[in-house]
Amino acid sequence: MVAEFIRITHDDDAWHGRFFDFVAGIFSDGNFRPWAARGGWDADYEVLAFVEGEQILASVGRSRMNLIVRGRRVAGIQLGAVATDRAHRGQGLSRRLIERILGERQDSTQPILLFANPSVLDFYPRFGFQRLVQRRVMAGLAASPGGAPARPADLGRLEERQRLAQLCRHAAASGTLLSAHNYYFILLWHLSCRPLQGFWLDEQAAFVAVERRGDRLVIHECLAPRRFALDRGVPRLIAAPIREVEFGFDPAGWWETPAPASSEDGEALLFVQGDVPSGGDFRFPNLAQT
Ligand SMILES: CC(C)(COP(=O)(O)OP(=O)(O)OC[C@H]1O[C@@H](n2cnc3c(N)ncnc32)[C@H](O)[C@@H]1OP(=O)(O)O)[C@@H](O)C(=O)NCCC(=O)NCCS
Repeated sequence: MVAEFIRITHDDDAWHGRFFDFVAGIFSDGNFRPWAARGGWDADYEVLAFVEGEQILASVGRSRMNLIVRGRRVAGIQLGAVATDRAHRGQGLSRRLIERILGERQDSTQPILLFANPSVLDFYPRFGFQRLVQRRVMAGLAASPGGAPARPADLGRLEERQRLAQLCRHAAASGTLLSAHNYYFILLWHLSCRPLQGFWLDEQAAFVAVERRGDRLVIHECLAPRRFALDRGVPRLIAAPIREVEFGFDPAGWWETPAPASSEDGEALLFVQGDVPSGGDFRFPNLAQT
């Protein structure tokens, strides 16, 4: 049988379950179901695939995104779920999907990016992608729980998801060199499928997503209509003392003291092509990554 090309869109319900099973069989963190059950798959996410009957042989997920490049908002693309069934690898299926996506860009300057893994560092350069090193941003901060605890978010509730989606639309973006804005559907994937904790800071109409790693608090995301001194809110976000904070976004304007310091992040395997910076001091938001 010849592999057939299809597109799986947000309303192709019959294919969603097959796609979720396919990615779960290939990626350890490939559980898309809780996200889809919360309505996360919208028109900005599409999967290009080769299939044989009802079996998916290869896939590439394409997210249309609002990127921020050198301070300007531009329509960009992020790839994810790049995968070929083990028995069908080495037959050019992935190549044909990636080349099709590249051919469907507005033009060759449209930014397109992806986060890879160590097994494919030589794969993406075959398609014109170049590695771009981003920064890891940390701040020493000895803090203990204090103040009124922030209110845990419950994104199982529709009204809280609607509030978060609304906040994503209106929140001030973080970062200028290479960042993203209004990526609710990707944010919801992380919050539905990973052990992250979301909180509301009602006084600032803010949403914060954090993860505890030993005595480090990773603040993956902070969304609010206006920037505020997030460092002062940390005691409200923790249940036990911490010694340092890592930021999953550019904390400029969010953090007063002690000043965050950035270093090269060798773990984030970001590949890009199109009109994007060739380097510099930036942190693409953790929860905008697919
Ligand atoms: C990476 C993967 C998607 C490649 O799929 P595939 O359908 O076998 O790839 P193709 O046959 O289209 O290969 C295209 C080209 O890339 C080369 N290639 C394939 N896998 C490669 C790899 N891991 N590293 C470097 N080159 C690779 C092929 O030799 C081929 O070269 P050619 O066109 O010059 O002949 C597949 O191995 C896979 O599913 N891996 C596990 C999931 C994964 O890690 N995905 C990446 C997530 S970021």
